[in-house]
Amino acid sequence: MSRPRSPTLSWPGRAEAEARAAAPGAALAPLTERHGGPSTEPAGLVIRQDNRDALSALLAAGEPPMDLIYADPPFATGLTFTHKPTLGDTRHAADAFVDAFPGGLNGWLDVMYPRLVAMHAALAETGSLYLHLDANTVHHARVLLDEIFGPACFQREIVWRIGWLSGFKTSARNWIRNHDTILYYVRTPGRATFNKAFLPHAPGYLRRDGKPPTGRGIPLDDVWNAQPADVLDSIQIKSLSTEKTGYPTQKNEALLERIIAASSAPGDRVCDPFGGSGTTAVVAHRLGRRFVSVDVGAASLAVSRARLINSGAAFTVHDATTVDTDAGPYGLERRGEGLHVTSPPGAPALDQVFVGPRAAASMPFAPTHHVLRGRVSRGLDDVRLPTGAGGPLTVQLVDVDGRTRRVSLD
Ligand SMILES: C[S@@+](CC[C@H](N)C(=O)[O-])C[C@H]1O[C@@H](n2cnc3c(N)ncnc32)[C@H](O)[C@@H]1O
Repeated sequence: MSRPRSPTLSWPGRAEAEARAAAPGAALAPLTERHGGPSTEPAGLVIRQDNRDALSALLAAGEPPMDLIYADPPFATGLTFTHKPTLGDTRHAADAFVDAFPGGLNGWLDVMYPRLVAMHAALAETGSLYLHLDANTVHHARVLLDEIFGPACFQREIVWRIGWLSGFKTSARNWIRNHDTILYYVRTPGRATFNKAFLPHAPGYLRRDGKPPTGRGIPLDDVWNAQPADVLDSIQIKSLSTEKTGYPTQKNEALLERIIAASSAPGDRVCDPFGGSGTTAVVAHRLGRRFVSVDVGAASLAVSRARLINSGAAFTVHDATTVDTDAGPYGLERRGEGLHVTSPPGAPALDQVFVGPRAAASMPFAPTHHVLRGRVSRGLDDVRLPTGAGGPLTVQLVDVDGRTRRVSLD
C-alpha cells in the first residue's frame, strides 16, 4: 500500500514558482567590505542580495550548511514600512521595505515558495528552521513547509504573545490581535540540536507535597510571554526600548537569544535570510555563533553594519548593488590629522563615515577608522583620522537613508 501523501497547496502561480525554485540562482554578491581587522577570521557574513540567490550561491560555492535559520519575512500586511533613523527628524526617513505583493496572498506564495525551498536546501542535516509569521500567512506556510520538509519534520507552532494592550489596537470591535506565530521545523526528525530552556519557579513555590522544587525550573512551553515568569514583550510596543534602531519590524534580542540558545551550539552557523536590522546576527555573535545575515535593503545593511561594529563582531559584507564613487552633495577635505566633512542643507544627514587605506580595485574596503552617529539628526562634521594616516585613502559615506558612497582621496 502506498503511503498517503500530505496535502498540497495550490494557487494560480504555483507552476511558475516551482520553476523558479528549480532554476539556478545568481552568483554571490561581490565581497565589498571587511570589518574587524585583517588578522581576525571574520565570524560573519552580511549579504545585501536577494536571499534565494545568496543561499543558493553559498551552497553552490561549497560553503558549510546552516545549523539554524531564523526567518522573519514580510507578513503580507500590504504596508510600506519606513525606516526612522533620526530622532525627531523624519524628513529623510527612507522606505525600509514594502510588504505588499501583487495579487496579495497569491503573490506572497509566489515569492516565498522558492525561498522556503532554498532555506530547506541550505540547512544542515541536524539543522532547524524557525519561520516567524502571523495569521495573514501562517496557515498557508504550514502546508508548504509540510510539503517541502515532510510532515514529520514539523515540531511546534510557537505562539508569541506580543504583550500588554493599549491605545488604538484595543479599539477593534473584535478579539484584540495579540500574537505572532513561529513555525519550528527540523531538517531530520530526532537529529536536531535542542537545548531545553527553563523558567524559574515563583519565589516561595512549593510542590504539592509541601517540599521545595527540585530540578532546573519549569520547562518552557510553546506559548511565549504569557505567564508572569516569562517576560518577552515585543519591543514594538515599548516606546522607550534602548534596543530600538529605528528599523521597522525589528525583533527583540531576547526572542533571538531564546531561539539561538535552544537550537544551536557555539561555533554553529546561524542564518537570517530576512536580516532587517541585524538582530539575529548581533545575538548570534554574542552567543559565540557564526552568522549569515541576508537582506536586499539599503537601510538594512546600514543598520546591521553599525550594530555589528558596535558589538565588536568581525565580518565581511557582500553587496550586490553598485555604490557611487563620488561624494555627491557632500564635501570632503583632508585637514592635517582630520577629515572635514560638509553636508549642504537639504542633503540627507550622514550617519556613518568609514576611513581606510586605499584598497586595490579587486580587494574589499577594510576601514581602519569609523564614526557612527546612529539615531541623531545632526550630520557628521569632522572625523579624526587614525594617527599617521598618510597616503591615499578610501572614505565611505553612508547617509540616513542607507545610501552608500565610496570615494578615493589623495
Ligand atoms: C520583517 S523584516 C525583518 C526584521 C528583522 N527580523 C529584525 O529584527 O530587524 C523583513 C525583511 O526582509 C527583507 N526582504 C524582503 N524580501 C527579501 C528577499 N527576497 N531577500 C532578502 N531580504 C528580503 C526586507 O528588506 C526586510 O528587511
